[in-house]
Amino acid sequence: MSLLFSHTSLGPLALQNRLVMAPMTRNRAIGNIPNDLMVEYYAQRATAGLIITEGTSPSPNGTGYARIPGIYSAAQIAGWKRVTDAVHGRGARIFMQLMHCGRIAHPLNLPPGARALGPSPVAAAGEIFTDAEGLKPNAMPQAMTDADIQATIQEYAQAARNAMAAGFDGVELHGANGYLLEQFIRPNSNQRTDRYGGSIENRARFTLEVAQAVITAIGKDKVGIRLSPFGAFNDMPPYAGMEADYTYLARQLDALGLVYIHLVDHSSMGAPAVPETMKATVRHLFHGTLILSGGYDAVRAETDLASGKCDLIAVGRPFLANPDLVDRWKAGAAVNAPNADTFYTPGPKGYTDYPALSTGDVLSAAHR
Ligand SMILES: Cc1cc2nc3c(=O)[nH]c(=O)nc-3n(C[C@H](O)[C@H](O)[C@H](O)COP(=O)(O)O)c2cc1C
Repeated sequence: MSLLFSHTSLGPLALQNRLVMAPMTRNRAIGNIPNDLMVEYYAQRATAGLIITEGTSPSPNGTGYARIPGIYSAAQIAGWKRVTDAVHGRGARIFMQLMHCGRIAHPLNLPPGARALGPSPVAAAGEIFTDAEGLKPNAMPQAMTDADIQATIQEYAQAARNAMAAGFDGVELHGANGYLLEQFIRPNSNQRTDRYGGSIENRARFTLEVAQAVITAIGKDKVGIRLSPFGAFNDMPPYAGMEADYTYLARQLDALGLVYIHLVDHSSMGAPAVPETMKATVRHLFHGTLILSGGYDAVRAETDLASGKCDLIAVGRPFLANPDLVDRWKAGAAVNAPNADTFYTPGPKGYTDYPALSTGDVLSAAHR
């Protein structure tokens, strides 16, 4: 009896299975607006229990990458409504990942008038792709003033309301992978000396205030968060005290009553592994749903669900390359390999053209 493919619930929501499509930036949103191609891509994958969208900016300032979607204009809300209708029509639930890129940005990618912001004027090492001029160094962010902080918190709250208007079942705050919330949490990118910097109580404050504002806007049953303790992506080096910091965060997020925590472990992509003690601590302290992700196949997913390590499993690259991943994993059928060359390129190639198995293939695999 498969746990992965059995019904479950997420807060008040019924899910058709425990397999979650992990958030994946795909850069197909020309003009930062969801389009027909994106409707097709998400609809193809809507046999998941839950889809978490690609990182979507709550504001013009958060739109650091080329061709990522936003949720701050009427056209964006209308575009996303077509995505949520298509996904709901196939039985999946869908949360929007709210990703404010902060210092992971370049002015050439930002809409007119927008600014690259961060907790402190510390640029991330590394380069970012721009359509106009190719790879460029990450921007030097403007240190957020207190007014910027308050305005950004309100942008998150409004973005969450907009996501509701677009038909989403909830939102996931992107607190992972080196974007704005994590930039506040980590001491290398946050060198503030005010109430938003210094101790973990201060470095966590922005994330917790964003979470509270979003909860007030749409309700705690509709708000999850993604965290990447020990993650190093986007120039986030390890430091002493990491485990204690994320233990503090888990406790505070539990007190806020978020519907889920979604932990990232990118060791399958060459990042440092998340210690098992860290995952166990979050499991113990947080009473909502726990989603684990990173390098899962069907066997490992069943094992971790059966042992109670988590409640849901999120999968990225296998979903990217297999629109019918649920059928393939159920049948034990072969899977398509993802093509990294087309992860972030505009157009349907490597996006909506990964083949699904024919019904005959699924049946014969099931009987092998
Ligand atoms: C093309 C691509 C884009 C991604 N974009 C995001 C993103 O927007 N937000 C996020 O939290 N993680 C993002 N990730 C990380 C994935 O959600 C996931 O954690 C990672 O792929 C590891 O899981 P996997 O081994 O199942 O692929 C991305 C990964 C890939 C491959």
